[in-house]
Amino acid sequence: MSAGAAATAAYVVAALLTVMSLAGLSRHETARSGVAYGIAGMAVALVATVVMVAESVSAGAVALLAVAMVVGGGIGLWRARVVEMTGMPELIALLHSFVGLAAVLVGWNGYLEVEAVGPAQTTVAPDLLAIHSVEVGIGVFIGAVTFTGSLVAYGKLSGRMKSRPLTLPGKNALNLGALVAFAALTVGFTVAPSLGLMIAITAVALALGWHLVASIGGGDMPVVVSMLNSYSGWAAAASGFLLDNTLLIVTGALVGSSGAYLSYVMCQAMNRSFLSVIAGGFGVESGTAAAVEGEHREVSAEEVAAMLGDASSVVIVPGYGMAVAQAQYPVADLTRRLTDRGVEVRFGIHPVAGRLPGHMNVLLAEAKVPYDIVLEMDEINDDLASTSVVLVIGANDTVNPAAMEDPASPIAGMPVLRVWEAKDVVVFKRSMAVGYAGVQNPLFFRENTSMIFGDAKARVEDILKAL
Ligand code: TAP
Repeated sequence: MSAGAAATAAYVVAALLTVMSLAGLSRHETARSGVAYGIAGMAVALVATVVMVAESVSAGAVALLAVAMVVGGGIGLWRARVVEMTGMPELIALLHSFVGLAAVLVGWNGYLEVEAVGPAQTTVAPDLLAIHSVEVGIGVFIGAVTFTGSLVAYGKLSGRMKSRPLTLPGKNALNLGALVAFAALTVGFTVAPSLGLMIAITAVALALGWHLVASIGGGDMPVVVSMLNSYSGWAAAASGFLLDNTLLIVTGALVGSSGAYLSYVMCQAMNRSFLSVIAGGFGVESGTAAAVEGEHREVSAEEVAAMLGDASSVVIVPGYGMAVAQAQYPVADLTRRLTDRGVEVRFGIHPVAGRLPGHMNVLLAEAKVPYDIVLEMDEINDDLASTSVVLVIGANDTVNPAAMEDPASPIAGMPVLRVWEAKDVVVFKRSMAVGYAGVQNPLFFRENTSMIFGDAKARVEDILKAL
């Protein structure tokens, strides 16, 4: 068997491993093996690609490729080892931007090798030249949108950019105009390719990617990240067409379609319009949320301990602040202590609590909280009215009543945990500051709400001592 044929067979194996990886990642119990399949698939694909490329290039070029892989792999391993759980979404957004950039470079390379040198000097058959030019245009477009869109997502998730939506006048017309311009430029490029048109397609796509994500508000960022995941898959598939690489086409299409489906499911859970989110907040007008005023009531750890001592049922609602404080361990201790006293303790998990899907579930599992008391929002919401005490630990947007009560709020319509229906609510946070979506929370001023300020881990430990 030639090296090329062996590599093609290896590609089939790698594609199957990718399918198995996605299937494994769809459930908690099989997620680890899903990751292992994914690593194995990528390793097989990398080795097969190097073997295939080595047939047609010099030994020096293969050595360069090996150095690039070692350096890239080394940086990847280092970042993955040091990244905090809370920094994971921004790292993922940054990685998506690399896929987008790679697709742009592959597109430009295709242009320089084919259209730039003219039909006489390329290996592409004359009747396929138009298809090649369309592939270049689409590949560069998807790649550039993914690149700048992911960079903006990275900026918003890491706090380097404000999470508020950018609302330029006529934003929908701008997005639509960019799409029409791209279509016209690509037709022009196919008829008469030129450097100027390549630059114009790239510039329009870079601007559109930046504007699409900048126009999305903080609360919708989870959907945006999974949309960008999908775009990065389509960008890889577009590169696959240009490079004539079937594995890139197959894996790109798998990532693209599964990411799109995940975004759709998240939109359903968040009561958001899928089309509106992918069209950069289309149809969402920026209203002014009602001002929130009132007095809040502060309590001490001893008072909270007394409240818990009298409670028959407690629901703990964790959020991003629990992750920042790494409070899951004392929270797990508190759960055990209360359960031993005969108190019914359960957890209520919002679908977008924290900064990545399943964030809270992972932290609680790490601290050995039993799965069966960790309930989804829809499973616990109706029980909150008969709960003695709800402990809101570092959650904010996900328990904000404004989502249900203020139609002008940026998070209006998003389902939330109705913690205010419980007899008493205790909110753990460090200040009266807003949450990720930048919206004030009227929960903090309700009569049955008490605030306990400080780092969530330290405060839960204080309550444990007081108990
Ligand atoms: P957030 O609304 O982000 O609020 C977290 C709260 O934790 C903050 O108000 C902060 O208040 C408090 N906090 C931070 N550090 C703390 C510490 N060390 N100790 C105690 N409190 C601390 O949280 P959430 O309710 O989990 O909502 C998640 C938000 O992120 C949603 O808007 C969601 O759309 C967005 N988002 C989610 C995802 C996914 S997929 N889950 C991805 C991207 C964005 P202080 O500063 O006053 O302490």
